[in-house]
Amino acid sequence: MGLVRVLVVGGGGREHALVWALGKSPVVEKIYAAPGNDAMGDMAQLLDIADKDVPALVDFAAKNAISLVVCGPEVPLALGLADQLKTRNIACFGPSKAAAQLESSKGFLKDLCAKYNIPTARYGRFGAPAPAKEFLDSMSAPYVIKADGLAAGKGVIIAETRKQAEAAIEDMLSGQFGDASAEIVIEEFLHGEEASFFALTDGEAILPMVAAQDHKRAFDGDKGPNTGGMGAYSPAPVFTGEIYTRTMEEIIEPTVRAMGEEGMPYCGVLYAGLMICEDGPRLIEYNVRFGDPECQILMRRLQSDLAPVLMACASGELADHRLDWSGRSAALIVMAAKGYPGAYEKGSVIKGLDAAAAMEGIEIFHAGTRREGEKWLANGGRVLNITALADNGPEALERAYRAVARIEWPEGFYRSDIGWRLREWMEDE
Ligand code: AMP
Ligand code: GLY
Repeated sequence: MGLVRVLVVGGGGREHALVWALGKSPVVEKIYAAPGNDAMGDMAQLLDIADKDVPALVDFAAKNAISLVVCGPEVPLALGLADQLKTRNIACFGPSKAAAQLESSKGFLKDLCAKYNIPTARYGRFGAPAPAKEFLDSMSAPYVIKADGLAAGKGVIIAETRKQAEAAIEDMLSGQFGDASAEIVIEEFLHGEEASFFALTDGEAILPMVAAQDHKRAFDGDKGPNTGGMGAYSPAPVFTGEIYTRTMEEIIEPTVRAMGEEGMPYCGVLYAGLMICEDGPRLIEYNVRFGDPECQILMRRLQSDLAPVLMACASGELADHRLDWSGRSAALIVMAAKGYPGAYEKGSVIKGLDAAAAMEGIEIFHAGTRREGEKWLANGGRVLNITALADNGPEALERAYRAVARIEWPEGFYRSDIGWRLREWMEDE
């Protein structure tokens, strides 16, 4: 394999970790990031191109001999980034617009699961309130109401009462999320423990990655509003060898085959959001990209060279590849601006980053910062990802929290109970 020039699309913590991993590769000649963030500046050349500006991304890639585009977020893929790159013969790590429907249309996903017998929650699809409300008769509380399309992670309502469920149906179908909620899915509430599992596929060959667990709620005790994720760790004890085998055989492999049969082979990473139920794993949702912050801890555990694998995935040659993972554990704490996921201020000063980053086993990925001279300023909702690698999960968490304690940022907050499930598992043993 010759030297490659890579364009990473996106500018958050996930993309910082991808740039960091690609930057270690002997086959990568140069990395560009669009738009990237200041913390990637010493590893990648930052471009003033928004991640959603598909024509500008394609144009840049074509004019600058880019051999691989690695797309972090889902929106450019749902807009057809991979399809347009293909017309210029540029490899893209990430699915076509059609295949990206696995994430961009919940109805598409549910129908696919029904057709190919992939275990998920029982459901109905609706475009009008009356039949949707009637469907609630066949369900019991809590009710799960989902906008069909992409709603920046806000399109799922878990309604405790029938009244709340009916209100959510009315709100969504009357345009709460615009076109994204012109149609809705109502589904059965699944009981169990959630886990995220990742697998690479080129449409035929499948290369399993590892599992992780994140923490969606903003505050300790899993309280407060849903966020993009406040902390994560890998491996996840709930994802046992048996659950892994069943997930591959009952969910991942049938999905890859199904997408091929539907004439829209899937290329990229499949991020399966799973509920580990009493009777086995069930699919809650797919994302057509890496998780953020899960990607960051996957990159900490990955021992193989990432670049050739992503390249092979994008060009249909994944079958000959394998991935080596550290047997150690990775943990991640998100530091966010006070107010997130609601309104928050930008521009506060963050100190102590160098001291924290120098601690043993620590790597810091920036999700929303800006550099001004020697100073680091907060520039987003989720701002920093403090990651640690250690011999086991609890030690990794402890290390990460010791590094967090070195960071001086009064305008920020973090959860102090990341990994509570992990500790429970360890105590049970
Ligand atoms: P999603 O955007 O599909 O990931 O949904 C957001 C969150 O809602 C998930 O991570 C779950 O915690 C929860 N959720 C979604 N669907 C279900 C379901 N059928 N049963 C239980 N919880 C669900
Ligand atoms: N951490 C959840 C997500 O990336 O969707």
